[in-house]
Amino acid sequence: MPQQDDTLESAHDARPGARPGAPLAFTLTLAQISDPRDVTPGLRRELIDCWIAVTNAGGAAGFPFPPVGDGDVAPVLDGLLGRLAPDNSRLVIARSGEALAGWAVLKRDPYRLVGHWGTIHHLQTHPGFRGRGVGSALVRELRRTARDELGLEQLRLAARGGEGLEDFYGRLGWREIGRWPGALRFAPDDTRDEVLMILTPL
Ligand SMILES: CC(C)(COP(=O)(O)OP(=O)(O)OC[C@H]1O[C@@H](n2cnc3c(N)ncnc32)[C@H](O)[C@@H]1OP(=O)(O)O)[C@@H](O)C(=O)NCCC(=O)NCCS
Repeated sequence: MPQQDDTLESAHDARPGARPGAPLAFTLTLAQISDPRDVTPGLRRELIDCWIAVTNAGGAAGFPFPPVGDGDVAPVLDGLLGRLAPDNSRLVIARSGEALAGWAVLKRDPYRLVGHWGTIHHLQTHPGFRGRGVGSALVRELRRTARDELGLEQLRLAARGGEGLEDFYGRLGWREIGRWPGALRFAPDDTRDEVLMILTPL
C-alpha cells in the first residue's frame, strides 16, 4: 500500500517565510510510493496529465521540447514507475483534496561508491496549484525521506538555467556548486547553463 505521510507540515503553509502554523487555503496531503504495484491506473493517468500540463506550460521537468502528449510521456512514466523500489527509487505525490497537485522522484544509485547520496528528478507542481507551497513541501519531504528513511548524507540535482530555480531551491537550503555553461540548447537562439545544486547536510 502507498505510505501516507502523516507529518503536520502538509496541513500548514509550507512556503518559505510563512507564519509558523498559518493555515493553507487548501489541504495538502503528501504520500509516498515505492512499489510499482501500488500505482493505480487512476494515479498513472494523473501523473501523465500533470507532466503534460507542466511541460506544455514551459516547465523544466524532463521534456525539453514541448509540446508533448501521451505518446511521449506515457512510456517514460511507465519506465520510471516500473523502477520504483524502497531502497533506491521513491515517488512522492502531493494532493490537494482529490486532485494531484504535484510530484517528484527521489533516487539513489545502488552502486556502493556513491550510495550515500541521492538525486531529485522531475519535481513539478501542476500549473493550477503554483505558488501555494506545493513544490516546497515536496522538496522538504524528499529531504526528510532521504535523511530519515534512506540514511543519505546529501541530495543533488541539475536544473535548467534561466528559470530562477536557483532561487527556489536556495530558499530551501540548497546551494549552487557549479554549472555546465551553455550545456542545454533548446533552440538556436536559446542556450542555457545546466546548474548543479546540492543540499547537505540533510
Ligand atoms: C519549480 C516548481 C516545482 C515550484 O512549485 P510551486 O508549488 O509553485 O512552489 P512553491 O509554491 O513552494 O514556491 C515557493 C516559492 O518559490 C517561488 N518560485 C516558484 N517557482 C520558481 C521559479 N521557477 N523560480 C523562482 N522562484 C520560484 C514561488 O514564487 C514561491 O515564492 P513565494 O513564497 O515568495 O511566493 C514549479 O514552478 C514547477 O513545477 N515548475 C516547472 C517544473 C520545474 O521547473 N521543475 C524543477 C526541476 S529542477
